[in-house]
Amino acid sequence: MKLVFVSMSVAALLFVSPARAQDANDAAPEKDLAASARAASIELGGKLKARLEVALKDGGPQAALAVCKTAAPGIAADLSDSFGGKVGRTALKVRNPENAPDVFEAAVLKRFVDEVSKGADVSKLEHAEVVDVDGQRMFRYMKAIPMAAAPCAVCHGTAVAPDVLQSIRDLYPDDQATGFKPGEIRGAFTVVKPLR
Ligand code: HEC
Repeated sequence: MKLVFVSMSVAALLFVSPARAQDANDAAPEKDLAASARAASIELGGKLKARLEVALKDGGPQAALAVCKTAAPGIAADLSDSFGGKVGRTALKVRNPENAPDVFEAAVLKRFVDEVSKGADVSKLEHAEVVDVDGQRMFRYMKAIPMAAAPCAVCHGTAVAPDVLQSIRDLYPDDQATGFKPGEIRGAFTVVKPLR
């Protein structure tokens, strides 16, 4: 598990004692933030998977697709409200273009992919960082999502059934999210919270 805290901008680090002391004290709240961001990510994953499994069992892949499309954004929005930031999912190859990564997310995802290619376990990859955006400090957290055979392959695998594939294309004309193999990285949970 790799947890990195890069605190404040370079400019802030050039100033002496008071700002530096503040930085050091910030480390503890950031650890708490990472823990709650990790918990929110795990909760989002659990809720989505539970909904998915029920829908697959009750109505098959077609019904599950509809549930995924309508329920996924709402579940993420509810969790974002209770977290007090943004909790969502992203990937280098997305199904829903609204989940496309920003520059920060794309860079972290690429590093995750690189680490997986060197043998890292996808389920253990995460990244936490405080970034400075135009003077606003933002806490950012990402946790890699592993591709699994069940239930993911039905809709993201290398042999998606033709009727399921057709429905995916109808719902998401620009879909890029098939062809994944178990053990690969499917995407990541992503959490953003503005700090005072
Ligand atoms: C029934 C089909 C179905 C199954 C099974 C399924 N997904 Fe998805 N997945 C979707 C749909 C539809 C979306 C787009 C949701 C949206 O519009 O936000 C999606 C989106 C995602 C995203 C967000 C990034 C993107 O591509 O838009 C990730 C990450 C993801 N799925 C991972 C998984 C994982 C991991 C599993 C297995 C636990 C899984 N999915 C199982 C249909 C499915």
